[in-house]
Amino acid sequence: MFAVAKQLMAAAGALVFMATSGYVNAQFDKVEGVEAPDDVTGADCTMCHGDAATKFEFHHQPAFEGKCTTCHLETGTGGHGGLTMPDRQLCLQCHQDQEQHYPLATCWTSACHSDIHGSNVDATLNPSRQEAYPGFFEATTGAEYTGSEACLTCHTDQCSSWKESMHSLSDTDWQKAPNMRGCESCHGPGGNHWGRKAGIGSFAYASDAESDAVCLTCHKDETFAPEYQRNTHVKTGVGCVDCHDVHSQLERHNLRASANELCLTCHQNQRLEFAKFSHHPVDDSDARTGLQCVECHNPHGGEGRAMLVANQDELCFVCHVDKQGPFIYAHAGYEAGLGQGCSTCHDSHGSNSPNLLKMSGRGLCIQCHTDRVQHFPAQTCWSTGCHSDHHGSNTDYFFFDN
Ligand code: HEC
Ligand code: HEC
Ligand code: HEC
Ligand code: HEC
Ligand code: HEC
Ligand code: HEC
Ligand code: HEC
Ligand code: HEC
Ligand code: HEC
Ligand code: HEC
Ligand code: HEC
Ligand code: HEC
Repeated sequence: MFAVAKQLMAAAGALVFMATSGYVNAQFDKVEGVEAPDDVTGADCTMCHGDAATKFEFHHQPAFEGKCTTCHLETGTGGHGGLTMPDRQLCLQCHQDQEQHYPLATCWTSACHSDIHGSNVDATLNPSRQEAYPGFFEATTGAEYTGSEACLTCHTDQCSSWKESMHSLSDTDWQKAPNMRGCESCHGPGGNHWGRKAGIGSFAYASDAESDAVCLTCHKDETFAPEYQRNTHVKTGVGCVDCHDVHSQLERHNLRASANELCLTCHQNQRLEFAKFSHHPVDDSDARTGLQCVECHNPHGGEGRAMLVANQDELCFVCHVDKQGPFIYAHAGYEAGLGQGCSTCHDSHGSNSPNLLKMSGRGLCIQCHTDRVQHFPAQTCWSTGCHSDHHGSNTDYFFFDN
């Protein structure tokens, strides 16, 4: 039965003391000097257990609203306060949409939503989220492997097209896949995990370097690996995971988007350049003629300027063989090219002048031929009939078109 009024007053006094001495955020405390009544009514709970449920930064609504008896019994064999349901059904009363989520017996086990009345650190009422993350590789030290099938029971999001990803291979499937252990090849053995972030290698907490290191444990033989450490992407914190979504195979090579789109997501300026009047026909939709950024840039390597796959003129000759020569009459200036080769006159991506030209008129030639300012003042020097073989000629010293 209900305790005597005197005891109640003492209890209330104790709570006022706790509140004024900074006790506002802890879970409900037992009330000193008051015997636990066997039964009570719902309206009275906070009288003895304080109003802490309303003082959290992140509230759990039913506790905040004083609906204590949705979860707690007013009476019971061991006294009041037992749970109305002993397992996750308690929570599923209201959170029906979590039916598939983490199917352990209860939802408030030590590492999960154990701040069930409210929290000052985490909106999901999960104190373990504040635990220090021990480091990607340390997180799983000493754990046993459980196999991907186990992971798939809980983590359906990560696995929609997992089976098509090369990473779902196991070493028994294919000799090119040594040490493959499905999910655990990257996240580490899951034996100590089962829902706690501390028991698994989580990329959400990994540093850029740690995260790349995971990939490079296997992809170390690729030609890009040593160079990769020195490229601009790595130096600016763009890692494997920014470009590859290893769980799926929605795009070739596990890319997060079709290759050009991927690059243009971050390189918005280049999107503008490729929209200019004349431009290299970068295009994902036409595999036959569509150029790819990666035909000129190596996203993994290229310590050199702009991570180009080859030095600049060599790069241009890969596709524009006719400009390579050797010519009987080579245009001496072009090789030296003010030190810039083809780029003396051409923009690599796009230009508002025809033919990717940096300037549309004779100014282009006058960059070097300063003595020709007065010479044949037509708009361009390569107009039909004149020096139109200026990239090099086998017939004419003056690059006339024969
Ligand atoms: C008259 C004061 C009083 C009222 C009213 C009261 N309780 Fe309690 N309750 C106590 C005390 C005192 C204890 C501590 C018993 C102990 O430490 O052995 C307790 C224990 C509990 C416990 C168990 C704590 C534990 O560690 O096992 C729960 C849960 C609980 N109360 C919930 C409720 C709920 C829900 C209500 C409202 C329906 C309620 N109480 C109303 C005084 C009260
Ligand atoms: C959403 C369900 C839910 C609501 C609502 C709820 N509780 Fe609880 N409460 C729990 C669970 C679960 C535990 C932990 C029980 C366990 O570990 O066995 C708990 C534990 C307690 C305890 C034990 C001490 C502690 O904090 O661990 C007290 C006291 C308590 N609740 C009081 C209340 C009071 C008072 C209210 C209303 C203001 C309330 N609860 C509302 C689910 C709830
Ligand atoms: C009486 C209904 C009710 C019960 C029972 C209940 N909850 Fe809630 N819970 C709510 C409401 C309402 C919210 C706020 C929903 C929102 O903001 O979308 C909420 C929010 C949460 C949140 C915050 C994260 C989020 O999705 O917003 C967690 C975590 C949570 N509940 C866990 C639990 C757990 C664990 C249990 C079982 C111990 C439980 N709840 C039982 C009604 C309930
Ligand atoms: C019983 C269900 C369950 C199983 C089985 C399970 N997990 Fe988890 N896992 C969870 C829950 C719940 C979380 C915490 C999610 C959160 O905090 O948002 C989690 C967290 C993670 C995280 C970190 C997420 C983050 O944001 O920090 C990774 C990575 C992970 N699991 C991978 C795995 C792998 C790999 C396996 C198989 C070895 C596995 N899980 C098995 C339920 C499970
Ligand atoms: C090839 C390495 C690799 C494999 C294999 C792999 N993952 Fe991941 N996982 C990652 C990376 C990288 C991220 C972070 C980036 C992202 O979300 O794409 C991640 C993210 C996650 C997350 C979100 C939490 C976090 O760490 O950021 C979960 C959960 C997860 N993976 C579960 C799984 C499950 C389940 C499997 C097996 C079906 C699996 N992973 C297989 C590399 C891998
Ligand atoms: C346990 C070894 C292992 C780890 C760790 C690993 N991979 Fe792989 N990866 C493979 C194997 C095996 C293949 C398939 C054979 C191949 O292409 O070499 C592959 C293939 C790939 C492919 C090519 C897919 C295709 O369709 O062409 C990409 C991209 C890739 N991995 C990226 C990553 C990234 C990013 C990480 C780090 C998050 C990573 N891998 C971690 C073993 C691994
Ligand atoms: C800036 C984006 C980007 C980053 C960062 C990146 N990749 Fe790639 N990766 C690509 C693109 C684009 C392709 C496709 C290349 C092609 O089509 O020639 C690719 C292809 C691959 C392939 C398959 C083809 C091959 O070269 O073997 C593997 C494996 C791979 N990447 C692994 C990695 C790993 C491991 C890392 C981190 C060390 C990484 N990638 C970082 C964009 C990136
Ligand atoms: C996640 C964002 C991101 C993605 C995706 C990305 N990049 Fe980058 N890239 C950067 C950042 C950041 C820099 C360094 C700052 C800058 O130059 O804008 C950079 C620099 C570059 C540079 C200049 C390198 C230098 O040394 O001057 C080139 C070239 C480049 N990226 C090409 C690519 C290509 C090709 C792709 C697609 C395969 C790509 N990037 C995808 C973010 C990205
Ligand atoms: C035909 C070859 C070619 C293609 C295709 C190409 N680039 Fe470039 N890109 C270059 C060259 C050459 C440079 C060096 C520019 C210079 O210094 O004149 C460069 C420079 C860059 C830079 C460094 C910043 C700058 O403008 O100097 C970025 C970033 C870049 N490219 C991104 C991209 C992206 C994104 C794509 C695909 C949408 C792409 N490139 C396609 C040849 C190309
Ligand atoms: C991977 C192949 C490839 C590389 C490398 C390449 N180009 Fe191109 N280039 C093309 C294609 C394809 C076209 C379009 C041809 C067409 O429309 O007939 C083109 C067109 C051009 C045009 C004419 C543009 C117009 O508006 O008609 C110029 C100028 C040009 N490229 C210069 C260069 C320069 C300079 C380089 C070196 C930085 C270079 N290209 C590297 C494939 C390439
Ligand atoms: C001195 C300026 C200049 C230099 C340097 C230069 N070009 Fe050009 N290029 C032009 C001009 C002007 C045109 C316009 C049309 C023409 O010549 O018929 C052109 C047109 C082109 C075209 C498109 C038309 C065609 O003839 O196919 C390509 C491709 C091209 N250049 C590639 C190159 C390459 C590759 C290099 C480096 C080896 C280079 N250019 C160096 C000025 C230059
Ligand atoms: C980067 C500097 C440079 C640029 C730009 C340049 N040239 Fe030249 N050009 C030279 C050099 C150097 C020679 C060789 C001069 C010599 O042998 O005395 C040369 C030679 C010539 C010759 C042979 C006649 C002569 O004076 O020796 C003609 C014709 C010519 N260039 C036309 C052009 C035209 C047309 C353009 C513009 C499309 C152009 N050049 C742009 C550097 C350049």
